[in-house]
Amino acid sequence: MKIYAGSDHGGLVLKKTLIRRLVELGHEVVDLGTDSDSSCDYPDFAHAVAAKILAEPGSKGLLTCGSGIGISIAANRHAGIRAALCHNSLEASLARQHNDANVLVMGGRLIGEALAVDTLEKFFSTSFAGGRHQIRIEKIEINPERQKN
Ligand code: RB5
Repeated sequence: MKIYAGSDHGGLVLKKTLIRRLVELGHEVVDLGTDSDSSCDYPDFAHAVAAKILAEPGSKGLLTCGSGIGISIAANRHAGIRAALCHNSLEASLARQHNDANVLVMGGRLIGEALAVDTLEKFFSTSFAGGRHQIRIEKIEINPERQKN
């Protein structure tokens, strides 16, 4: 799978660890930065990853910041991006099965490495369940016609 990765300084160490694991698992990972521990702005990397995923259907994303919160809020501003902030493998599998999440988000300052790797493995090996969940994920996108009612 093609996976675009991004983080700010707060998520840098975790992102690097997770990229190593993804490559071991055979995924193709493109790291869109940051590459330094200097203070930077998480929305820049959320937007870069979201743009790549939207341009390349079937690709997915991995985002980390200190808490995982800011970078997931920013990524979810893009229609078609479903970024899920996960803290364990159960959340990761539900995010894929029910929400067809296309970006996994974790907080580099809040989650331990072993738990993060377990969460990562579950997310990128679980399929969307479809069925009743398909219409629900379609309803996530704002529909101007529906807003009138
Ligand atoms: C950076 O200090 C921190 O605010 C950021 O990594 C993230 O936690 C924001 O949500």
